[in-house]
Amino acid sequence: MAREEIHASSGRPTGESLTSNPPTERRNSFLWGTATSSHQIEGGNDKNDWWAWELEGNIEGGARSGQATDHWNRFREDIRLAHELGLNSYRFSLEWSRVEPQEGQWDSGAFEWYEELLNECEKYSLTPMLTLHHFTSPKWFADAGGFTWPGSARRFAEYTKKVAQRLGSRVPLWCTFNEPMVMITGGYLGKFMPPAKFWPEGASLACRNILKSHVRAYEILKQEIQRPVEVGIAHNLLDFMPDRYWHPMELVITQVLHRFYNRSWLDAVTGRKQNFGVPGLVPKPRPVMDALKRKTVDFIGVNYYTKAYVKWRSRDAAEGVSSDFPIGLAFSRRHEAVSDVGWAVHPQGLKKILKFVSGYGLPIYITENGIADRSDSLRKEYLSSHLAATAEAIQEGMDIRGYYYWSLMDNFEWVKGFGPRFGLYSVDYDTFDRQLRDSGTYLSQLIRAHRDGNVWKAPRSELL
Ligand code: FCB
Repeated sequence: MAREEIHASSGRPTGESLTSNPPTERRNSFLWGTATSSHQIEGGNDKNDWWAWELEGNIEGGARSGQATDHWNRFREDIRLAHELGLNSYRFSLEWSRVEPQEGQWDSGAFEWYEELLNECEKYSLTPMLTLHHFTSPKWFADAGGFTWPGSARRFAEYTKKVAQRLGSRVPLWCTFNEPMVMITGGYLGKFMPPAKFWPEGASLACRNILKSHVRAYEILKQEIQRPVEVGIAHNLLDFMPDRYWHPMELVITQVLHRFYNRSWLDAVTGRKQNFGVPGLVPKPRPVMDALKRKTVDFIGVNYYTKAYVKWRSRDAAEGVSSDFPIGLAFSRRHEAVSDVGWAVHPQGLKKILKFVSGYGLPIYITENGIADRSDSLRKEYLSSHLAATAEAIQEGMDIRGYYYWSLMDNFEWVKGFGPRFGLYSVDYDTFDRQLRDSGTYLSQLIRAHRDGNVWKAPRSELL
């Protein structure tokens, strides 16, 4: 089926109505973008739970986000750099702790900054995709219990409403949450994110309250914004596989993890079922009634990076997986091509994941895909192989509408600090100079080869 037909038959607003100031030629454009998040790039975010956790010395090498990439002062340059790559979209997140630094106190100046950012996007015809929550929560919210707090969904709804009222008319594409499962496993099972507890009941409560927050946010965005908007989530998926194919326990755990980590969230936001429990580990939460038997997303955002080998009671669990967790995960094996953070380069996994996600019958954006590669020796190959997988998926009829590389520039990589370099632009942390990497040039050439006038086409495998 041609892409035009897909758009028409799905009843989705066309690309034309998705842009802030839409030139007609952009109808049905594939979205080519980069993704970032507030805390990783802005700098000066000292009112959230991450900053507090950084001060306790939890980041590798004792690092702190500090000025991060100084994007707060350099955003104009950064948006221009995104434009120079030939992109037509930009995914970023709003820092809740900036706009509501104390409960119920709204900072108008912070909203103005985001308005300026949107002005820059508009100036360069970059369709914005805004994420409401990308791992960080205001300190006051985290102190009250974060998403284990019974009041959390109401507070998140208030925040969403303010954002919708202030910025809604400017933003056609929304992600409510970035990677809820990473936040939940990192915060309550694996201890690699604040509050870094091994607390399975907390994981269960957080699943429930994040889903509740998501559903409310979905409704608020639809009600408050007087233009067609698409709302989804950005969901991290891993290609799980048993470490030993003959090992019955590893085969079973692989299925359990696939169901919990990859599937449960997608089942929940498409109204199929709410299966957030893991037998013997995470208690199943009470269902969120508002999310049953209805879709609360218009698209699914796929964040895909790598595979995960599942090891039963392994002693050499992967980094970031605490010993309280009875299962070991490894993101690569010896002799596999790996990124600087040890994640295997595994484009076949992207194809498998896209096929799996397509089963939900919703449009897909690849909201993150990228590699930590300081020497820039693997990134071109990573890009071309993952874009080839995307192209094949589209040729097979999967409804994929955009690809966002993670990330525009090097940034603060959470618990790993500033070591991993994911950027198409490198950042010199002494001067904050940005330099285009060769792989950045490569991606921009590739995008231009997929551009016809002002229409950005989806990747075609023969050109890769
Ligand atoms: C994803 C996160 C993003 C970044 C990349 C490398 O899981 O969403 O913020 O850290 O990994």
